[in-house]
Amino acid sequence: MLIKIRNSSDLKDHDVTDLDDYYDRRSFIRSSFKYLTYGALANYGMMFNTSHASFDFTSAKKSTFSATEKLTSFESITSYNNFYELGSGKKDPKLNSHLLRTNPWTITVGGECNKPGTYNLEDFVNPHALEERIYRLRCVEAWSMVIPWLGIELSNVIKRFEPNSKAKFVQFESIYDPENLPGQKRRVLNWPYVEGLRIDEALNPLVILAVGLYGKDLPNQNGAPLRLVVPWKYGFKSIKSIVKIRFTNVQPKSAWNVSAPHEYGFYSNVNPNVDHPRWSQKRERRIGSFLKQKTQIFNGYAEEVAHLYKGMDLIKYF
Ligand code: MTE
Repeated sequence: MLIKIRNSSDLKDHDVTDLDDYYDRRSFIRSSFKYLTYGALANYGMMFNTSHASFDFTSAKKSTFSATEKLTSFESITSYNNFYELGSGKKDPKLNSHLLRTNPWTITVGGECNKPGTYNLEDFVNPHALEERIYRLRCVEAWSMVIPWLGIELSNVIKRFEPNSKAKFVQFESIYDPENLPGQKRRVLNWPYVEGLRIDEALNPLVILAVGLYGKDLPNQNGAPLRLVVPWKYGFKSIKSIVKIRFTNVQPKSAWNVSAPHEYGFYSNVNPNVDHPRWSQKRERRIGSFLKQKTQIFNGYAEEVAHLYKGMDLIKYF
């Protein structure tokens, strides 16, 4: 994620150095050029089938959980992204979005549950009611957006697979396709991207699996065809392009925690009182706004989620 070391307590957006840049700037430039050329040559429809099932969002219910703040523009939400499988610059995911193959797409559910199985995307999503959820997204890099997601509530999905009493955590895994995904050709992270939640966190009604935004199917760069959204945690917990969901009795690995355990904890709740070791988390830059604003504990969702962490030391369990 962010690598550049600053003394200043407040990180500027243009100061962000992506992992690739940090590890290997020259090879990054070489590979960016290669993918740019490749991208320009690729005939989208013929080379890759990047389109997946469309959902009918006209019946999507509005939600009382939705924020009422000004929405971030569609353009910003879909062109300023973190999706390291598609490159580590903010513009790379959109530029390389055609390299993510989303059709066919299956999701395998397993581990400690009574109804494991592999489902195609439609069969996985269609039993559940689609809702619009307008949520704040706060990245650990100290920027934020307000995004009108369309998706299904994770708690309903979980109940459908009947986790047993050993299911203490839920683990998620993203697509692994190093042949096509430029970022996975290099060990920027320990691929595939993985994430996890405690089962009671996962059952909180705020958590959704998104399949769309702004009334349209989820763009590839935002994690098509199915991505997690956990609005009170830093954005990296919201894992994209999910292919596996597993119930476990041990705390799952999470990609950024494995990469830099002292910087990215398992819980990663938005917390202005716990700074990242290299920058402040007190304020954030809302994309599209000039002035910074104060970051809220649990990203403003304390009423809905603070009880999950009662009695826990949130400095130790950051
Ligand atoms: N999921 C995968 N598979 N790969 C990634 O690199 N980046 C995370 C998260 N999910 C990431 C991911 C980070 S750091 C953030 S801030 C959000 O996705 C960004 O989501 P957005 O690009 O839709 O704003």
